[in-house]
Amino acid sequence: MSEKTSSTDDRAPDEPEAAPPRSLKRQPVDRSARARRKAAQQAAQRAREERKAELAARRAENREGGPRPGPRGFAGRGGGRSSYVEAPPEWRGTTVQVCGLWPFGAGSGTPMIGVPVGRELGGGAALCCDPISWFQRAGLIHNPSCLVLGKPGLGKSSLIRRMVLGLTGFGVFPMVLGDLKPDYVDLISAMNGQIIKLGRGLGSLNVLDPGETAAAAARLSGRARDKLAADAHGRRLNMVSALMTVLRGSPIADTERTALNAALRVLDERHHGVPTLPDLIQVIDQGAEQVRAVTLARGSEDRYRAAVDPLHATLLGLLDGPMGETFARPTTTPIRLDAPGGVCIDISGIDDADAELQAAVLLACWSDGFGAVEAAHALADEGLGPQRHFFVVLDELWRVLRAGRGLVDRVDALTRLNRQRGLGQAMITHTMADLLALPDPADQMKAKGFAERAGMVICGGLPMSEMGPLNEVVRMSAAEQNMIVDWSTPPSWDPNLNRDGEPPGRGKFLVKVGGRPGIPFHVDFTPAERDVNDTNKRWLNSSTRVISTVPPVEPAS
Ligand SMILES: Nc1ncnc2c1ncn2[C@@H]1O[C@H](COP(=O)(O)OP(=O)(O)OP(=O)(O)O)[C@@H](O)[C@H]1O
Ligand SMILES: [Mg+2]
Repeated sequence: MSEKTSSTDDRAPDEPEAAPPRSLKRQPVDRSARARRKAAQQAAQRAREERKAELAARRAENREGGPRPGPRGFAGRGGGRSSYVEAPPEWRGTTVQVCGLWPFGAGSGTPMIGVPVGRELGGGAALCCDPISWFQRAGLIHNPSCLVLGKPGLGKSSLIRRMVLGLTGFGVFPMVLGDLKPDYVDLISAMNGQIIKLGRGLGSLNVLDPGETAAAAARLSGRARDKLAADAHGRRLNMVSALMTVLRGSPIADTERTALNAALRVLDERHHGVPTLPDLIQVIDQGAEQVRAVTLARGSEDRYRAAVDPLHATLLGLLDGPMGETFARPTTTPIRLDAPGGVCIDISGIDDADAELQAAVLLACWSDGFGAVEAAHALADEGLGPQRHFFVVLDELWRVLRAGRGLVDRVDALTRLNRQRGLGQAMITHTMADLLALPDPADQMKAKGFAERAGMVICGGLPMSEMGPLNEVVRMSAAEQNMIVDWSTPPSWDPNLNRDGEPPGRGKFLVKVGGRPGIPFHVDFTPAERDVNDTNKRWLNSSTRVISTVPPVEPAS
């Protein structure tokens, strides 16, 4: 106290005035917060001291056991310290073999059931994935179907070709019922499968031909035979109605459908051999009694003609109108399910501007293909054939859905009934926006349902604008979204080659099953696959004149 007083008194006259006592300047503080801070600091200090003591004790213990190397070996002369630590070699084996190496074995995080599609991007582990194996054997998905999304040219079709190849090896029968580009012709023909060409002047398809169903029915008896025949009749009726709907741009009337049904029954009774559309038209034109009865003509020729004339006219349009002669003649090459490499219907010869023909041919191909599948199942159910599984590829789905009326409903039915029919299915399109851009709101909702019902969604590079709609279908983390958006970056210019480099997202995909974390992977072609996977062939051997950047050499004078 006395010291304090004397220091104040000893101040020189020119010395600045001392600061007022601290207690006068201090702001009111929250005492409990300060106490908490102090307690935390003391606890941290205590933990530091304990850790120090622990390390000191450990060092003392180590000194007793002799010197020990660090993680890279002994430092100093003669110590053999390694400046570079190599990653240990890794091998992959079956659990039967690897268990002998216990405890050095480590499980892979990726499923090993299905077609080997590539390597996981994080750890390089092989990834096996296809909708049929993940549904049937691994039980990882609830529906044997997948939807592949990604910007053009990033390798979507190549990924599905890999699945087709692998599944064919597992005994699944691949079916590409309408290859619009064509993307699958090379692969299916390399596997000795059947290639059917359809289009103007290329080949025709008779929608009244029962195809494989007739051969299967001949081997069946009783109720199984009756059911198959009834299904075949229903399919023909639906097919003719669908073609008429495409041609007219609006659904056909109930009365017309009834007349068509009666005419098909008459044709079944009277016609020998496989009927064609001209035979059906003849039955309607001649006015068979059973057809007249359902039109309520009551003996009046005029009433009969008034009822069937619109039907008659549209059927004539199917023979030689926008559809050309594609449906007017007997089937050029019927679908066979005994070709080991599957079947591919190549409709790339139909011009995109021919939307009606494209839609009609797609519908007819599906009807024909699924008819063959039903026939195979009917035989298997009776023990007359093996139980088979089929892998149906719907590539370029956006074009299929926009080709014409009725196609959305067909794909909708397919996505709902594939499990019952023993069909696995792959749908490929560029973006979710493709599915939501259909003109009819009801069709938009149905198309969104395809994505929602798909067992797995496989995403390649996509723009940021896609993340909203995609998140509504499968929940994506921020990291997954960033990865997918990065893959959609355009390739950078390679000044050495004087052209664009490889797109960064080519061959990279993320498999998503519901909200589970996705598995990112890269598809690597095997040498055998390279020839059948080049969809840029038209750009090789180009006739385009190359303008040389090297100045011409002046002739010597
Ligand atoms: N993993 C890959 N490694 C190397 N090249 C690839 C890979 N995947 C695809 N390609 C090549 O990229 C090109 C385009 O592939 P693909 O036709 O499969 O793309 P896409 O996504 O189906 O395109 P589109 O949307 O136009 O149908 C082909 O020439 C193919 O050989
Ligand atoms: Mg493609």
